[in-house]
Amino acid sequence: MSLSAASQIRHFCRLRRRRVVLTAYDAPTAALLERSGVDLILVGDSLATVILGYASTREVSFREMRHHVRAVLRGVRNVGVIADLPHKSIRRGIASAHRDALRFVEDGCLGVKIEWLGPESETLTRRCVRSGAGVIGHVGLTPQSASPKAGFKVRGLDRDDVGAVLDAARRLENAGAFALVFECIPEAVTDIIKKHLSAPVVGIGAGRHTEAQVLVFQDVVGLTEGFHPRFLKRYAETGAVAEAAVRRFVREVQSGRFPAKKNTYRIKASALRSLREMP
Ligand code: KIV
Repeated sequence: MSLSAASQIRHFCRLRRRRVVLTAYDAPTAALLERSGVDLILVGDSLATVILGYASTREVSFREMRHHVRAVLRGVRNVGVIADLPHKSIRRGIASAHRDALRFVEDGCLGVKIEWLGPESETLTRRCVRSGAGVIGHVGLTPQSASPKAGFKVRGLDRDDVGAVLDAARRLENAGAFALVFECIPEAVTDIIKKHLSAPVVGIGAGRHTEAQVLVFQDVVGLTEGFHPRFLKRYAETGAVAEAAVRRFVREVQSGRFPAKKNTYRIKASALRSLREMP
């Protein structure tokens, strides 16, 4: 890891105020997030469902992720970028997933986010950290292993499951993860599990007391449809604003109101005359 990446991670871990993480998949959005004061950008594998039209995050490939990771990196100056290690990379085995993680770091990411899929996630985290990649572990609801058809379920509702989430979090932390995403865990359970960990927790539906909060940009600005989990707050309805604008454009083109004279280019009268006199 370059010195600046290591110090960016240390800075993120040491911040005393609540940290803000948001997803981005393209350069202009990444620039907007940086201007708005976001602490860390995640190129999530939610790229699959939010942007690429797949049914599940499992379907996005490393190549597709990398295309968007590079776009995001071109859009930022100082804010750190973390890339989700896609399920397709992990399915090809630890050695290949490790190589893919290091490719993201070569591109300029601080590191990768690794979902808990079982002991292989611990091994992979350890290898990535030893090679200098920052790792954020992801526990609780892990969309790469949950079936969208069966529905995404809140985790940690009984003793056994709390034990499983805690065990996964501990193993990822011990393997060197510098932070942990907790997804869809009751607030009181998050508070209990957190007592056993020292890494900052980035919550998404994990209550009010985590060190950071993460959401998907398109959800926050109201660009997604039909997705209303309890943990989400939509801060704008940008989708409705954009749709109204496009409808107006369609009406104005169809009626001849657009383009207006002020939207057209002009040519000097003398040049026009000589053009008209051309044989
Ligand atoms: O892929 C993603 O966007 C994520 C966040 C929702 C945590 O993993």
